[in-house]
This record gives sequence, structure tokens and C-alpha cells, in this order.
Amino acid sequence: MAHTKIPKTAPVIVLKDLQKRFGIGDAEHYAINGIDLTIRKGEFIAIMGPSGCGKTTLLNILGLLDTRIEGEYELEDRPVASLSARRQARIRSQQIGFIFQSFNLVSRLNVIENVALPLVYKGTSELNRLKQASAILHAFHLGEREYYMPYQLSGGQMQRVAIARALVNTPSIILADEPTGNLDSHSSHIIMQELSDLHKQGNTIIMVTHNPHLTTYASRVITMLDGKIDTDTAHPKKKTDEPNAKKPLGKTSKKRRKASRKKEGVK
Ligand SMILES: Nc1ncnc2c1ncn2[C@@H]1O[C@H](COP(=O)(O)OP(=O)(O)OP(=O)(O)O)[C@@H](O)[C@H]1O
Ligand SMILES: [Mg+2]
Repeated sequence: MAHTKIPKTAPVIVLKDLQKRFGIGDAEHYAINGIDLTIRKGEFIAIMGPSGCGKTTLLNILGLLDTRIEGEYELEDRPVASLSARRQARIRSQQIGFIFQSFNLVSRLNVIENVALPLVYKGTSELNRLKQASAILHAFHLGEREYYMPYQLSGGQMQRVAIARALVNTPSIILADEPTGNLDSHSSHIIMQELSDLHKQGNTIIMVTHNPHLTTYASRVITMLDGKIDTDTAHPKKKTDEPNAKKPLGKTSKKRRKASRKKEGVK
């Protein structure tokens, strides 16, 4: 069970009545259907929920991959709707690191070129790009694999390269959509340990997962259902709010009646 400790840091993400509609006419439906959420700097959030509940849609919105939304999204105090497309693209490439289930490495580029890729959009010189990529690959103990092609790596190594690529720009927010979805349990835990280290260094991480075991690495767990937040360990529901909540043992409870009968010697 995640230990929810909300840091007293500034909010990085504030959502107010966020909605995302897909389709038109009869096909219209809301993939996100009214989400209010504040995420603070340094949180490690795990998002869970059944297939189709809107997890990827939410992550794409948070990462500015999808900006056609209703409601409000403030990223570091700036309403996203007020930002030009150019500014959004710059924020996306410099402040947000994406990690995907399918790794998304470019197959014709070697490891170091893959990791250096995000720096191209930043205008860094080729020599500096390779230097920065090499430094981060060494930090991930992948220095010896710099000139390997992606197909020469195991799934766990590919994902570590993908994480190195997501971090080369030192983003302030890391978004991971089922980062261990294609990995065996040993590799999953290595990846989770790496995300956990990044969290300890103060990074904000938002990770979608289907694996309840992996939520132990997170500081906060959110479950979604039908485009809404269902549960949030930062705001636990009171027992009495739940329709099926068990009533506390009262005077008339079976257990108590039995205990008092025993005390009085009644069979
Ligand atoms: N581009 C799109 N056009 C139309 N509908 C979409 C589009 N993307 C997502 N949806 C719909 O939005 C809903 C939420 O999808 P989403 O991919 O966010 O779910 P998810 O929780 O990530 O599911 P999974 O666990 O299977 O990855 C689904 O009903 C899906 O069919
Ligand atoms: Mg998804």
C-alpha cells in the first residue's frame, strides 16, 4: 500500500473540471469526464483503472500531446490554453519526459543517438548532444551499450535507454504510460527502482500501471473509472461515504450478542 505523504511543495499541475470529448454526433463520448486534481512538485503518482477508463488520454493531456480539452489545465501556474502552439511545443520538449510501454526507440539510430535525439530540438551542438547523452547512459550503467542498435538490447535495457532519453533534457515532470507493461517482473523492478531514485531526487513522476504491486513505489495512488477519479490515497473517502461500507459493530451486532451471552453463561 502506498504511503501517501503530500509534499508541501508548489503545485505543478492543477486540473479543474477537466473534460475530453471524442467523436461527434452519436459517436460522441467523454474519455475524461470532470477531473479535479492537484499534483505537487516531487509527488510520485501511480494511476490505475480498467482498460478504457481514460488513463492514457489523461497522460496525453498532462504532457500537452493533446490540448483540445474542456475545463482548466494549469501547468506551473500557466493556463495551458493561453500558451501558443510554439510555447507548448517548447515546454513539451524541455520540461516533460515521456516513457512509453513500447519504448519507442528509433530503430535505425544507435543507443547514444536515440538518447541525444531530444537535444536536437533544443538546438544543442552535436558534440554536446553526444557528451550529455553519454553522461546519462553512464549514470544508467549503459555506457558499454552506447553504440549498440536497439534490436541488440533486452526489453529491460531498451526501457532504460528510453528513460535515459526522457531525462536527457532534465525535465521537471516525467510521464510514464505502463513503462513496465512489456517487461518481465525482474526487469520491471529494475525500472521501478530507477523511477524511485528519480523520485528521491525530487522529480515529479506520474505513472500509469496495471500492476498493483508496482504502486508500492509511488507516494500516491489514484484509481480512475469512466473518465473520473474514483479513489485517491491523498483524499481517502470516509467509510460512511461508501455505499457498501460496513457499519461499525454496534450494540446489536451478532458478535457482541454472542460474547455477552457467553459472559452471562447463556447458550
Ligand atoms: N483518438 C481517439 N478517438 C476516439 N476515442 C478515443 C481516442 N483515444 C481514446 N479514445 C477512447 O477514450 C477512452 C479512454 O481511452 P484511453 O486510451 O485513455 O484508456 P486507458 O485507460 O489508457 O486504457 P488501457 O488501459 O487499455 O490503455 C476509450 O473509450 C477509448 O476508446
Ligand atoms: Mg492506456
